Amino acid sequence: MQTIKYTFQPHGDERGQLVSLEEYNDIPFRIKRVYYMYDTIPDVIRGRHAHKKLEQILVCVHGSCKIRLDNGKEKKIVVLEKPYEGLYVASNMWREMFDFSPDAVLMVFASEIYDEADYIRDYDEFLDYVEKCDDIESAEEV
Ligand code: TYD
Repeated sequence: MQTIKYTFQPHGDERGQLVSLEEYNDIPFRIKRVYYMYDTIPDVIRGRHAHKKLEQILVCVHGSCKIRLDNGKEKKIVVLEKPYEGLYVASNMWREMFDFSPDAVLMVFASEIYDEADYIRDYDEFLDYVEKCDDIESAEEV
């Protein structure tokens, strides 16, 4: 499974660092929503869902955490620990965020506003959903 990790351009000088993120430029979609998680309790696993339509970029702007990505066939764990790195998470991808350092701030840039109807929160339902999507794609290729 291929994962896409962006390395953003830090604009550093003797005063410190600055990262700027523009939609369609650094972020490959229109940013409709930004949210962030902090004060995450140790050993907590967040996420545990997939989205039907929404895409996102995750940036651990402070501290570190791990992201488990699962496309229904393969799983991969990605470490986020640099404030200038962003992990792209496509639609139809199960994600779990875990191993948050006590100081972690995980910022999320999302392509859609919050819509509970876009969530798949049950893992078996997710597996059924991606299988159906694969079937439709294979039928379209014929
Ligand atoms: P939740 O979906 O459980 O977070 P995650 O799955 O990423 O661990 O969201 C926690 C709460 O915040 C839940 O009550 C829904 C609410 N929420 C919003 O109101 N707007 C948002 O953009 C998000 C991501 C969550």
